[in-house]
Amino acid sequence: MRQTLAVSIWSFLCFGAYAAGSSEASLYQSKLGVANMIRSAMLASIRTSWEQGTAAAGILEFDDPEYSVFGSCPFVSDEKFPLSTLQLAYSAVVRQSSDGRLSQEIDDALDGAALDGASAGSAVLLGSFTDSSRHDYWWDAAVAQLNFILNVAPRTSTGAISHRVDSRQYWADGVYMGFPFIAYFGAVTNNATLLQVAYDQCRLYRDALILDGPTGKLWGHIYSDDTKEWIDEGIWGTGNAWAALGMLRVAVTIQKTEYCTDMAPQIANLTSWVKEILDGEFAALMSDDLVPDYITGGPSFSDAASSAALASVAYRVAQIYPQQFGASYTVPAAKIRDAVLGNATNLGILQPIVDPLNWTQVGLLSTESQAFGLMMVSAWRDFIGPVDI
Ligand SMILES: *[C@@H]1O[C@H](CO)[C@@H](O)[C@H](O)[C@H]1NC(C)=O
Ligand SMILES: *[C@@H]1O[C@H](CO)[C@@H](O)[C@H](O)[C@H]1NC(C)=O
Ligand SMILES: *[C@@H]1O[C@H](CO)[C@@H](O)[C@H](O)[C@H]1NC(C)=O
Ligand SMILES: *[C@@H]1O[C@H](CO)[C@@H](O)[C@H](O)[C@H]1NC(C)=O
Repeated sequence: MRQTLAVSIWSFLCFGAYAAGSSEASLYQSKLGVANMIRSAMLASIRTSWEQGTAAAGILEFDDPEYSVFGSCPFVSDEKFPLSTLQLAYSAVVRQSSDGRLSQEIDDALDGAALDGASAGSAVLLGSFTDSSRHDYWWDAAVAQLNFILNVAPRTSTGAISHRVDSRQYWADGVYMGFPFIAYFGAVTNNATLLQVAYDQCRLYRDALILDGPTGKLWGHIYSDDTKEWIDEGIWGTGNAWAALGMLRVAVTIQKTEYCTDMAPQIANLTSWVKEILDGEFAALMSDDLVPDYITGGPSFSDAASSAALASVAYRVAQIYPQQFGASYTVPAAKIRDAVLGNATNLGILQPIVDPLNWTQVGLLSTESQAFGLMMVSAWRDFIGPVDI
């Protein structure tokens, strides 16, 4: 604490930054109550496979940030036990199907997706080095999940891992669901091949889904490689948010390994593709400081879910890549943050949000939306930095 104060005084003397940092920190403190409500509403809601993993990632960033890929040394134990994340990971493993997909077995249903289960993969693998009493349990589950996406899931004509199990399709969502886990597995096991696979998958998905939209290059939602036709050509806010969230995590994961210099061109491409999405989506920001559900090809109602996810990405890139991303990203992120946190209900639920099961209508509750809220608050907190008030 003394050291933090000293640094703050030093930065005040040198840059006059203390006052601004301090008021931002007080604003953050004043929003912790609503952030905790967003967290508990997330945990209270029923979750699909992709939301199980997304919830685990959101809670990891909020509760145990040192183990998220944005932490300084995330791939080894620092002796802390990431309880809430491992609780979510445990449920994902208990519901793992025999083919390796996490979070599947609920009633008699498998969810038809090849990549969604892998969204919990990183949280499961985290267990292997933070919960030694269950090392093999976590490790075996993570290996089975990795094996499924690398060796069992269908591939498209370009070698991309299909988002679906029974057909060959690209979904923008898949970039978050599958590829950060492949990169994370590569980082934890020091395997450069896996880091490259994660990058290549992002690249192949972008090549398949990128469109010239009215506000810049953005991603269409779903393309079928079997029929060579779009299934959803709309520029969907959450689809673009998934792609940006996923590519950012792959870039940052690679950067935290010893391969960061060798793979600098891959990291540069990933961050430029994240920038492309932020530029196009933020150019579509509406007068209520939220982005529309769809920019083209669907309804344009305001969507707090994709807005919060994109704001989280903006805070992260502004902190990690300040030369490439500056105030022109954090200014819209702050507007979104105020709109989203200011409009959460008395149950801690973000609104208005897209229905995650029907992308053309407004929903009442979505776990992914709550997780995006937590990611946004966590990224904002880390952007402000350790200012002691
Ligand atoms: C890296 O991972 C791949 C895929 O699991 C595996 O085939 C390969 O043997 C690993 N390489 C090393 C050096 O461990
Ligand atoms: C980065 O992207 C450019 C443009 O798409 C491409 O030409 C280049 O090969 C990519 N670099 C790597 C390392 O993949
Ligand atoms: C707050 O949410 C309500 C209900 O979805 C919506 O009608 C209103 O426009 C939202 N306001 C803002 C500022 O987002
Ligand atoms: C999805 O929402 C739209 C718009 O509210 C509605 O017309 C449609 O019937 C819904 N689709 C399903 C499958 O529920």
